Amino acid sequence: MIHWYPGHMAKAKREMAQTLSLADVAIEVLDARAPEASRNPDLAKLFAHKPRVVVLNKEDMADPAVSKAWLQHYRAQGAQAVLYCATKSGGNAPILKAIEKAAEPVVARWAARGAVKPVRVMIAGIPNVGKSSLINCLSGKSRTKVGATPGVTRGKQWVRLSPRLELLDTPGILWPKLENREGAMRLAILNAIRDEVLETMEIAAGLIEILQTMAPQAIVNRYGVETEAKPVEEILHGIGKRRGFIVKGGEVDEERAAVNLIDEFRSGKLGRISLEQPKQIDGEKAHETDRI
Ligand code: G4P
Repeated sequence: MIHWYPGHMAKAKREMAQTLSLADVAIEVLDARAPEASRNPDLAKLFAHKPRVVVLNKEDMADPAVSKAWLQHYRAQGAQAVLYCATKSGGNAPILKAIEKAAEPVVARWAARGAVKPVRVMIAGIPNVGKSSLINCLSGKSRTKVGATPGVTRGKQWVRLSPRLELLDTPGILWPKLENREGAMRLAILNAIRDEVLETMEIAAGLIEILQTMAPQAIVNRYGVETEAKPVEEILHGIGKRRGFIVKGGEVDEERAAVNLIDEFRSGKLGRISLEQPKQIDGEKAHETDRI
């Protein structure tokens, strides 16, 4: 995983701006479990005046009702938004349709000048949201290369998706935004930022607090440990005891319980759980002074 430091970020921004200039439409891949936390607002700035499609990926791991609310949220903003699962085959049709819809004004402008050409699409997002998986799903086996394009960095190719669409086979990697503590916590839980940014115990505590509101039954169902109105340490202690994570002297290994809880959440063993809801976000944006 990439560790962002200012120099690295500046280089990535330059490369991203260069590649974006070659694309007509950008697909913004977000994690359906925390779309706003996994969104980098700089994409909108870098891709100003060009159409974007929002793909809420990993919908198989997100709470379906919350995902529906997110879909409505983005559509209400006028975006082409689609729920997606990049680990299942099929399901490309809604994305292709959304791209064509988003590209309509561009195609109309070209047509007015008498130009007919395929719409060029690129995929962008922060690490681990499923950009590469989505590229594989969309391009499938028919990896028809369109040929070398001047200005595209060596190793990048356009792949024909349909007579009207071409996809860049390399994703644009955006840096995770760390504007507030809640968002950074959700990214850490989703494994989208390095675990060193936040300590394991801190991530586990954040996850437990979110579960207490978003999925109050998840821990009791998985570990048989009640969580209602209980402090985090007591819950981790309970999980460790249940799992038999005992160290020398008979003490419960709470750190191991924390690692286990985070791993099991990330692999979907706790169920389909979302980490944020649309109505929560506006309040947090108003309090972005709590920077990490
Ligand atoms: P990136 O290019 O944005 O960094 O993400 P990438 O496609 O590499 O996907 C990151 C991880 O998320 C991969 O798991 C991938 O399988 C998983 N993933 C992508 N899309 C989905 C989805 O829609 N649903 C689920 N459940 N998982 C998804 P990994 O553990 O890193 O590797 P793997 O061994 O599972 O492939």
